[in-house]
Amino acid sequence: MTKVVVTRKIPGNGVKMLQDAGYDVVVSPHDRPLERQELLNFIQGADGVLSQLTDKVDEEFINACGPNLKIVANFAVGFDNLDTPTLTSHNIVATNTPDVLTEAVAEHTFALILAIVRRIPEADKLSRSGSPPAFGPEVLLGTELKGKDLGVLGLGRIGSRVAELGYAIGMNVIYFDNNKQNQELEQKVGAKARESAEAVLKEADVVSIHVPLLDSTRHLINAEKLQMMKPTAYLINTSRGPVVDEAALVEALKSGTLKGAALDVYEKEPQHAPGLDALNNVVLTPHIASATNEARSAMGELAAKNIIAVLSGQPPLTPVKV
Ligand code: GLV
Repeated sequence: MTKVVVTRKIPGNGVKMLQDAGYDVVVSPHDRPLERQELLNFIQGADGVLSQLTDKVDEEFINACGPNLKIVANFAVGFDNLDTPTLTSHNIVATNTPDVLTEAVAEHTFALILAIVRRIPEADKLSRSGSPPAFGPEVLLGTELKGKDLGVLGLGRIGSRVAELGYAIGMNVIYFDNNKQNQELEQKVGAKARESAEAVLKEADVVSIHVPLLDSTRHLINAEKLQMMKPTAYLINTSRGPVVDEAALVEALKSGTLKGAALDVYEKEPQHAPGLDALNNVVLTPHIASATNEARSAMGELAAKNIIAVLSGQPPLTPVKV
């Protein structure tokens, strides 16, 4: 019987779709990432795996599955956990879950922007402190977004939607994207391309990162780049942690090189760089940008559709683009 392994419990109909397709579907009983050896034992004999971004999919993983493995469907749009050249060399299809989480991630990005500029976590803490302040002209002053420059690094699906949300709130959108100038978005939201990431960093009041993790984007934001930002600026990261040198970011936030940061992703996830948690001028969430019922259900269903397609000899719906 065709075996499909789901390495962690997922919401929505994805598992049912796989069961209805007639596969032997084995779902991890744990609500946590499997330890490496546990994972390698669990995936044995799989024809298809519905993987999580916490699962490293490499030669060892492929060998542990055995010779029948045909598809790894990653429950994420990012796929830096997949060794795609090795998968390709074994003729194993790799898929991801684009589009269905764009709205969730863009909305979370904006939740983080609003939370940091209006100091929502600080205000929440103060409100619950037992002695909340009365209305005060100088209590917890924040920053308005209307008329400010939103700098978007990476204008793919998510970056474009963040640009639209910024425009809707009255921000001027500037962007840098290696691959393209997006004329449609320029017309739609008046976005203006800049010639480099550095130009965006120097000019923007809020910088939001939406690039994939590649060798070329690792530490794209380092101490030198942070120095280029305005001391009144905010950095938002909902892409991948290693795109930002987190230790350098902590120093920049401590020294006033920049005003604040909001992060959903971390360099050594789930750990945070020393000193980060103690700062008041950060908002931190634990990699939940796509965590809506809508997005997470749709991600599971899309991953299941990819598995069903490939195991029945059809092309995948959303192969990873390498
Ligand atoms: C989450 O980070 C994803 O890549 O979907």
